[in-house]
Amino acid sequence: MPPLPIFMSMNGKITFTMVKPSAHASGYSGKILAKIEEGGFKIIALKLVHLTKEQACMFYDVHIGRPFYEELVNFMSSGPIIAAILQKENAVEDFRKYIGATDPAKAEPGTIRNLYGKNMGENAVHGSDSDENAVREAGFFFSSLERP
Ligand code: CMP
Repeated sequence: MPPLPIFMSMNGKITFTMVKPSAHASGYSGKILAKIEEGGFKIIALKLVHLTKEQACMFYDVHIGRPFYEELVNFMSSGPIIAAILQKENAVEDFRKYIGATDPAKAEPGTIRNLYGKNMGENAVHGSDSDENAVREAGFFFSSLERP
């Protein structure tokens, strides 16, 4: 992934999310975005993108070498996704709790992955796992003209 953008002032107050291809194709994007807002997360940047395989590889480069990497990048480039930057105090941790465990079968009832996920790969949404990655991931998808 490219170097960190000049976006550090929001460090700790933003997270990055994607509605994954299967959830978008199933018509869940509107419901998922509404649920995100209900959870107190403010959408401060938003777009629909169909990633190329190369772009998906770059986004998930931290997982290179993991057994699920090939399947992950094929899936994430299989159809359009919704990408968004969300603002809230303690955004990364709160959003990870709000979406539930990576495996929808283990996600708490009422969480986004519990409601809309199918399996570990098709788990409805992505959520950044650290403040540093939130800044990197937001910078990967949004230029300075497209975000506050
Ligand atoms: P995401 O939050 O987008 O980050 C990496 C993704 O890899 C994860 O969600 C899962 O959808 C996917 N994945 C597939 N298999 C695994 C696995 N065994 N462990 C962790 N992540 C996995």
